[in-house]
Amino acid sequence: MHCKIAIDGPAGSGKTTVARELAKRLGIEYLDTGAMYRIVGLYLHNCGVNPDSTEEIEKILNEVSIEYKDGEYYLNGKKIGDEIRTAQAGVYASQYGASPVVRKFLTKLQKEICANRSIVAEGRDIGTVVMPDAQVKIFLVASPEVRAKRRYEELKMKGLEVSYDELLRQIIERDKLDSSREIAPLVKAEDAIEIDSSNLSVEEVVEKILEIVKERC
Ligand code: C5P
Repeated sequence: MHCKIAIDGPAGSGKTTVARELAKRLGIEYLDTGAMYRIVGLYLHNCGVNPDSTEEIEKILNEVSIEYKDGEYYLNGKKIGDEIRTAQAGVYASQYGASPVVRKFLTKLQKEICANRSIVAEGRDIGTVVMPDAQVKIFLVASPEVRAKRRYEELKMKGLEVSYDELLRQIIERDKLDSSREIAPLVKAEDAIEIDSSNLSVEEVVEKILEIVKERC
């Protein structure tokens, strides 16, 4: 049986670090669906597409191909790098990610990637939409201040110039957008287990989840 692990939660809750580590320890695939929303968001923005125009978005998406291969993402055959990791790309991901057309396009792709394999997938709607059949569903949370601080450290390490206050503001704004949109909002799946990582190390969160995986997979 394939072991499917869904990790959802708001920006900066530690999903990416935890999901990556889990996949490594279990020797299974890892999918970062936020990266896919960032790729599409940034691309649509660069094409000058109005986030409210279904027609314009559809036209562009018809000519776009996104691929996932060996942990790397490709847009129209071109490998994606750190350009999608800026705070601004996160905002575009949120804005365009509220479009039903974008969600349909990416959900289909994500479901295909997750089918017939063991995988840890992380995002906002994995347990509810992409892998409702996952044996393990985790809803990872942390206070906005802790999350902003983590993002601040992460971006600083990458040499990017950022302000903590601005990051906190963006996180609160993104939470609001992600939780209030009509399609696939950020909500905890009924059968998800909530873990608050505010006062836990990555190792502690990973251990907690591995215990659950042992019982269910
Ligand atoms: O996880 P990350 O911060 O990279 O995600 C960027 C944005 O992409 C989120 O704020 C959210 O708006 C969107 N997203 C989404 N559904 C997912 C993953 C990400 O709407 N499954």
